[in-house]
Amino acid sequence: MKISVCGKGGSGKSTIVALLANEARTKGYRVLVVDSDESNSGLFSMLGFDYPPVPLMELVGGKKSLQQKMGKPSVLAESRIVLEDLPPQYLVQKDGLTLVSIGKILQSLEGCACPMGVLSREFLKKLTLAEDELAIVDMEAGVEHFGRGVETSIDSVLIVVEPPLESVNVGQKIHDLASGIGISNVWAVLNKVPSGDIAARLEAELQERQIEVVGCIYFDADVFSSSIDGRMPVKGVAVQEIKDVLNRILAKAGLPAPK
Ligand SMILES: Nc1ncnc2c1ncn2[C@@H]1O[C@H](COP(=O)(O)OP(=O)(O)OP(=O)(O)O)[C@@H](O)[C@H]1O
Ligand SMILES: [Mg+2]
Repeated sequence: MKISVCGKGGSGKSTIVALLANEARTKGYRVLVVDSDESNSGLFSMLGFDYPPVPLMELVGGKKSLQQKMGKPSVLAESRIVLEDLPPQYLVQKDGLTLVSIGKILQSLEGCACPMGVLSREFLKKLTLAEDELAIVDMEAGVEHFGRGVETSIDSVLIVVEPPLESVNVGQKIHDLASGIGISNVWAVLNKVPSGDIAARLEAELQERQIEVVGCIYFDADVFSSSIDGRMPVKGVAVQEIKDVLNRILAKAGLPAPK
């Protein structure tokens, strides 16, 4: 399964990616996290790595080189990619968890992020997963990645929705765009919810908009305070709540339990 985690800026995408990745790994899946956010650079630390991998953008000769090749069908040389094929500097790994990064905007005036979108799209298209492997993509905020076709070879989209209406509206847009390109597994997870009452209101609102909700992560002070150090808590309420979310996703996607 290739699942893309999307949502409004700051809704908790990276947090949900890190929680899901750790839980899936604990369940016995081999988990590949794809950092497809060209702005934020702290995902490696949230996943417990000491340093980030070299971005895949370097593997294709950097942004300039890719820009010249944009639009041409074969951005990466191979027609299929398995993780083992990537040179070691392009991934960081431990305990069944692997992180790859597409690329980061490093300088002012270096141009738009379209080449990163092309590389994300091509990498995800060619990425071939084994049965016990899950790819979880930490997407950039908002909806622009749909315009770049990053989701064309993604089979599931998880929308992170927090209570404010703007977050719900962005979630709706993502839902419609994902459904519009034929992705059948499009779900929402509620995040940073302060009370059961607000969870019920938010869920009712999403139901009204025909957006299926696969779970709720309440506002968790442990998650928030760990973020001051760029880390994720290893236990706490959110770590428990994500178990249900993952179980529902796996059941809905009809995924077999790993051996
Ligand atoms: N369930 C939660 N409880 C408490 N704090 C949370 C929760 N989820 C996320 N946060 C906090 O909200 C902030 C934003 O989270 P995060 O970086 O995961 O969002 P994001 O959607 O990835 O942001 P961006 O759009 O910048 O990539 C962080 O400080 C994080 O710790
Ligand atoms: Mg993020």
